[in-house]
Amino acid sequence: MSSFLSSKFAALEAYVPGEQPRDKAYIKLNTNESPYPPAPGVLDVISREAVADLRLYSDPTCLACRKAIADRYSVGVENVLVSNGSDECLNFLFMGFTEPGAVFADITYGFYKVFGDLHGIEYTVIPLNEDFTIPVEKFCAAKGTIFIANPNAPTGIALTLEQIEQILQSDPNRLVVVDEAYVDFGGETAVPLTGKYSNLAVVQTFSKSRSLAGARLGFTIAPAEIITAMDTLRYSTNPYNVNRLTLLAGQAAMEDEDYFQKNRHAIMEARAWTKAALEERGFAVTDSMTNFLFARSDRIDGGELYTMLKDKGVLVRHFTSARICQYNRITVGTMEEMQTLVAKIDEIFAEKGV
Ligand SMILES: Cc1ncc(COP(=O)(O)O)c(C=O)c1O
Repeated sequence: MSSFLSSKFAALEAYVPGEQPRDKAYIKLNTNESPYPPAPGVLDVISREAVADLRLYSDPTCLACRKAIADRYSVGVENVLVSNGSDECLNFLFMGFTEPGAVFADITYGFYKVFGDLHGIEYTVIPLNEDFTIPVEKFCAAKGTIFIANPNAPTGIALTLEQIEQILQSDPNRLVVVDEAYVDFGGETAVPLTGKYSNLAVVQTFSKSRSLAGARLGFTIAPAEIITAMDTLRYSTNPYNVNRLTLLAGQAAMEDEDYFQKNRHAIMEARAWTKAALEERGFAVTDSMTNFLFARSDRIDGGELYTMLKDKGVLVRHFTSARICQYNRITVGTMEEMQTLVAKIDEIFAEKGV
């Protein structure tokens, strides 16, 4: 570690993103990307002229892209902030909205802990119930800004809107951040509640259901005072946080509702098929409302399954923390990819004679 680094960061453990291997071609089911390309309109807007315009800074207000999001979700443009991936929105919220501390689950998006440590925030970690559901009562009773991934990752399990409202109402003076990275695959969005509760911020991303993980685009929908405050942090860190091509791509993706609907339904169908196929083979699979499945089998150790699948060219995500080390998180790809996954699992079980 460099002796020039501020001592407060010396022990910081960075977020570890999923593998992006280059050694061979994998069926990549490890980082919850979409198997489908971005909407056709995205290719049209990334024109030679748009590329030539890269000599100019992007619009710091990101207005056209925010307008497309606001129209799609029936909110005002003053209720929308866009960011370089939804991770950046989450960073702003941890940076500037956690004076009373932060609260999140023990099994959830790993970045919450990293942001907490990065900003020197005191946080409370609430264990999920035995069945990986969120203990709503404990969140209601907790002190500090609440961060909930809904549906949760890597479990895939969703809270209902009634449960989100219960948490919102339990303390109107406490901010609740609902991270809806995966909501388009079967969850219920809390966006309509942002008109009703002044203590709610909803974070979403273009990385999953809108096939733009590589463009890095996320957004927050919240009451205008929260957006204005987040904007102060945005202008204080990087006023041009979203690049020109991404702003164009995001707008085009948001405007193609048919393509969005078609892809999310295809993914939900492939998820249902894969869940059934895994259960037939004895896997325990959580009730996922996301574009991934969270599965474990008594026939094979979770880490071993991950390694054997990788050797066979299928990459899934394995976590080593004690409560979930027997599980693998499997992104839902195309039907063909999921059929290959299941065939490889059959091969592995046959090889092991289990
Ligand atoms: C729960 C959750 N929130 C937020 C993100 C961040 O997504 P992005 O920064 O690509 O928008 C992810 C990424 O996988 C996630 O799983």
